[in-house]
Amino acid sequence: MNIFHNKVAIVTGATKGIGREIVDKFISRGCYVVGVARSKDILARMEEEYNRRFKGIAIDITESNSEKIIVEETLQYFGKIDFLVNNAGGTIYGDIIELSNREIEYISRLNFLSAAKLTREVLPHMLERKGGWIINIITGAVFVVLTRLATYGAAKAALHYFTEALRKEVSNKGIRVIGVYPGAVRTSFFDHPSFRERGGKPATKPIEPSKVAEAIVRAVERGKERVYVPWWISLLKIATVFPVAIEG
Ligand SMILES: NC(=O)c1ccc[n+]([C@@H]2O[C@H](COP(=O)([O-])OP(=O)(O)OC[C@H]3O[C@@H](n4cnc5c(N)ncnc54)[C@H](OP(=O)(O)O)[C@@H]3O)[C@@H](O)[C@H]2O)c1
Repeated sequence: MNIFHNKVAIVTGATKGIGREIVDKFISRGCYVVGVARSKDILARMEEEYNRRFKGIAIDITESNSEKIIVEETLQYFGKIDFLVNNAGGTIYGDIIELSNREIEYISRLNFLSAAKLTREVLPHMLERKGGWIINIITGAVFVVLTRLATYGAAKAALHYFTEALRKEVSNKGIRVIGVYPGAVRTSFFDHPSFRERGGKPATKPIEPSKVAEAIVRAVERGKERVYVPWWISLLKIATVFPVAIEG
């Protein structure tokens, strides 16, 4: 049985990196996808490429009410929501003192609050239909302490906690919740100028984003609740007992 056939997915951060690979893998298995990101031109090209299987919503997910627009437009266009993939994310590199309050707020909104609000907006629909998958892209860095990425790590740690609690709240209601914990991935994540300007080190041995998308597809098919890519990221959980701080 193909779980993805004729399902409808919302994927945030759909234009690049991990999100783009998720769109590709889901559509190739027969899913319809609403892709969310700010880059209108890339979304328009993706609509052409995937024909009627893909609809782009060009929106900044940190803006208030974006979650309502995304859910309303998805229901208008495809009539249901089976998957929500909270993938959009990113950061500004630097010590806490180097970030403005505005930047701290933006990182928190992008990596946690927007995912929490979009989940809250999708839930009534999934509960009514007694089914669905909520897939949150977190990071393996939540198991260690990354300096120079404090707000990003804190927002992702909040998303990790939210994911674990959400699973307990909805697992007996037909809704599956998957937390995804990637290590370093070769994407434009590290292209923000702050990495270069403030001496951020390039990610060592990053994996390809397609590996993360493949692991997510396998997790859906096998009913897994947590995805660690590469596998050894799961060993970092030891560092939650014996804390390890790593310079980002
Ligand atoms: N790369 C890594 O090493 C790594 C490791 C662990 C976890 N992750 C997580 O994986 C997820 C995907 O990241 P990635 O590595 O694939 O990064 P990426 O290549 O930079 O892609 C980020 C995606 O998010 C979208 N986006 C960014 N800001 C947005 C906003 N304000 N509103 C709407 N969309 C926005 C971008 O599209 P637009 O620019 O068009 O808006 C893009 O599609 C993130 O949650 C990241 O934290 C990444």
